[in-house]
Amino acid sequence: MSEPILENIRTRRVVREMTDEPVAREQIETILEAARWAPSGGNLRPNRYIVIQNPETRRLIRLVSPGMFQKAPALILICTNGDVLAEHSLPPTDRALLIDIGTAAQTIMLAAHALGLASGPVTSYSKEAVKVILNLPESYSPEMFICIGHKANTTKRGMTAWKKTSWRDLTHWERFPDA
Ligand SMILES: Cc1cc2nc3c(=O)[nH]c(=O)nc-3n(C[C@H](O)[C@H](O)[C@H](O)COP(=O)(O)O)c2cc1C
Repeated sequence: MSEPILENIRTRRVVREMTDEPVAREQIETILEAARWAPSGGNLRPNRYIVIQNPETRRLIRLVSPGMFQKAPALILICTNGDVLAEHSLPPTDRALLIDIGTAAQTIMLAAHALGLASGPVTSYSKEAVKVILNLPESYSPEMFICIGHKANTTKRGMTAWKKTSWRDLTHWERFPDA
């Protein structure tokens, strides 16, 4: 893959060890601007983003987030704004909402990677505790953290051994059985 966007997609990896070096405000703004262009079901755009850089707030969040292994200098929390759902009579179980979180998450991580930053998603945390720590409005549902920072010099591997699958192992053509 030599095309830069495809290369960016291929080389992004979740980083779980980061340095203390802060992330520049303009880099975070660039990432948020990229997230704004992520596709959204019905173009309803129910995602809202909370940027957290305060050390004490990050410490509290880590305490209630068993799946957050990074001590990231910046966190972007993707929230679903329930007011948007109410406006369009959508139930909070509408699957487009989860897909919107996914499109935003991948866009954020690819934008971070394009800027030379490390990133990692986290869904393992107490939603109730996060709501209290951040004093979220009742209508905001905290759906996924994206940790952003600079990769620490480490040889640690990812969460699970990388399986050498090819797209061929994951794909069927046309209809079953494969053509
Ligand atoms: C929906 C979802 C939830 C995830 N939750 C966590 C998490 O709580 N903590 C974590 O360290 N990584 C989490 N990850 C990252 C995955 O473990 C990671 O993407 C996977 O191991 C593949 O690694 P790679 O993205 O570097 O290829 C999550 C990824 C997704 C898509």
